[in-house]
Amino acid sequence: MIKVMFVCLGNICRSPMAEFILKDMVKKRGIAADFVIASSATSTEEWGNPLYPPAARKLAQEGVPTTPRQATQLKKSDYDKYDYIIAMERRNIENIKRICGGDPENKVSLLLSFAGRNDNIADPWYTGNFDITYDEIVEGCEGFLSQCFSK
Ligand code: 4NP
Repeated sequence: MIKVMFVCLGNICRSPMAEFILKDMVKKRGIAADFVIASSATSTEEWGNPLYPPAARKLAQEGVPTTPRQATQLKKSDYDKYDYIIAMERRNIENIKRICGGDPENKVSLLLSFAGRNDNIADPWYTGNFDITYDEIVEGCEGFLSQCFSK
């Protein structure tokens, strides 16, 4: 079982998009039963709020299924529960380490690092562009899956 927690600032745009995109990818590859995939926020800013409607619309356009959800904050106990804690941007990493009390098992990484890029996922909260964010998350998730199975 491979357990993945995606993390962003608010858990209404980028990390739930990554959660639904990776869930769809593993389902299409027939390997969904091998994965637990979740997402959470470093902040409490959007706690309890649903997927941001423009993010939901973009996923629907791309044929990625979504389920109703409420934004939640990363917990210290998630560090033991998940194998991979994957941040959307560099500043998330500092906050993940603050919440989890460091990263002694090297579980924390940047999503695009799996695609060989040392870049943040574009933040659509500020750019208003969900297309670029979607493409970058797909790139990171594809890289993640190929690295998972090359080990
Ligand atoms: P997310 O987007 O971190 O991708 O869910 C944001 C959501 C809320 C805020 C910023 C980014 N905010 O400042 O409230």
